[in-house]
Parts: sequence; structure tokens; C-alpha cells
Amino acid sequence: MAQDSSDIELFMLTSDDYEEVAQLFDEQYAKRNPLCKVCKETSLEDIGESMVKDIKRTLASGLSIGVRDKTTKAIVGFRLTDIFHVDKTSTYHVGEEDEPSIMYQLLARFSPHGKEIQELGISPILELFAVCVHKDYGGRGIAAMIIKKTLELGDEQGCRLAVVQIANSLSEKIYNRLNFQTFKVLDLDTVADEFDLDTSIIPGETILSLMVKNLPSKTSNPHPQ
Ligand SMILES: CC(C)(COP(=O)(O)OP(=O)(O)OC[C@H]1O[C@@H](n2cnc3c(N)ncnc32)[C@H](O)[C@@H]1OP(=O)(O)O)[C@@H](O)C(=O)NCCC(=O)NCCS
Repeated sequence: MAQDSSDIELFMLTSDDYEEVAQLFDEQYAKRNPLCKVCKETSLEDIGESMVKDIKRTLASGLSIGVRDKTTKAIVGFRLTDIFHVDKTSTYHVGEEDEPSIMYQLLARFSPHGKEIQELGISPILELFAVCVHKDYGGRGIAAMIIKKTLELGDEQGCRLAVVQIANSLSEKIYNRLNFQTFKVLDLDTVADEFDLDTSIIPGETILSLMVKNLPSKTSNPHPQ
């Protein structure tokens, strides 16, 4: 894999980046992500208000990384992330009963905020929400680079566990290589009738997984005995 990253730079995203991140999400994430395709929700508008809220929530976290083309100054990638405190009331929108998005209804079946993760009793948790790299910059290790950087940031913030929902075999390769473990899976073929999904349009991409990784945490025990 080509590793030349001299034409791009990483920076921390803020709420001010919403419009540009939303545009990249709309044009690159929603159009190419297998789960968006099978749910026929291939734009931010299709997915709706829950995704808008989650993008805004993760931009405000101070943990989301952007990738900028140094020449054009355009944002060409993002790794949206937040910290989830198991013991506090979640602001997460997955799983609301009146959720209109099929994609969100499916994600709720294996949510990082679900009971099984909460029962691990680990907090705080680094929630790796969404990663995207513009296709013109793909296959150069940029996603792997920003995911690794995010794990370092989460570790510095005292996170003990990283959790991610995977709906794309390319990103699954990255998380496997970073020693994430599969915690729970959802085979879309088993819910195709219930959600009216034509899974033949996403061959090889029908297994959604919830993956976890323990973080060593540099700050969780600042005063060791
Ligand atoms: C998934 C995604 C973030 C990967 O970004 P990326 O910067 O291209 O990823 P990397 O370069 O770090 O590569 C990851 C692996 O995928 C491979 N890969 C990336 N693009 C590829 C392509 N178009 N065809 C084949 N393999 C590809 C890489 O070669 C690498 O595997 P390797 O290390 O064995 O060589 C990007 O394709 C994307 O934004 N997709 C749409 C949104 C999405 O689905 N996000 C993930 C949601 S779970």
C-alpha cells in the first residue's frame, strides 16, 4: 500500500466543520457504504435527523479527526468519534422507538450503547462512530492512519475500551489488524424480509459486526500504588 501522505494533513474537527463534513458524508460515505446502499438511504437527507445529530455530536467531542488536502484545502476524510460514559445518560440516538431510518433501526440491533456492552462495566468507552476517506485518496492507508491516531487520543483521555460498528469489509480489515475482537454480529440475510432488504446488491458485505478493543489507558490510573 502506498504510504505517501505528503499531500494531506490531519487536524482536529470542530462543530464549525459541519457543512463540509456533511457534504463529504453525503457524497462519499452514504453513496459507498454497503449498509446505506442496502437500506436505500444513500444521502444524509435519506438517513435523516439521527445522522445529522450524531455528526454534530461527534464533531463537538474534540476527538474527531479530519484529513485535509494541503493544496486544495478540502476535507477529504474524517474519523468521527465520541466518548461514551456508561454511567451517564446517553445522548445517542440509535434505538429510539420512532426512528424512521432503516439503517438506524438496524444499527440499534448491535449498538455500542447496548446492554451487552454496558454489562462489561467498562467506562469511559471510545465510540468510533464513522470513518470515511474520499475515493480519490483511497487505498493509501489514510483510514488506518486516522483510526490508529484516534485510539491514541482515546487512550490519552482515559478510555478503557474502543467500540465500533462495522458495515464494510475494507474497514473490517483495518480493525482486525489493530487486534479488535468481534463482539456481536448481525447477518443482514436473517433480517432481509423484516426490513425489506435486497442483500444481493452488497455481495460479501452482509455481515455487520460490533468490534471491541481494550485500551491500555495511560491515564486511568495516574497514581499507581
Ligand atoms: C472504508 C474506507 C474508510 C477505507 O479508507 P482507505 O483510506 O481507503 O483505507 P486504507 O487505505 O487504510 O485501506 C484499508 C484496506 O482496504 C484496502 N482498500 C482500500 N480501498 C480499496 C479499494 N478501492 N479496493 C480494494 N481494496 C481497497 C486497502 O488496500 C487496505 O487493505 P490492505 O492493508 O490489505 O492493503 C473508505 O473506503 C470509505 O470511506 N468507504 C465509504 C464509507 C464507509 O463505508 N466507511 C466504513 C464504515 S464501517
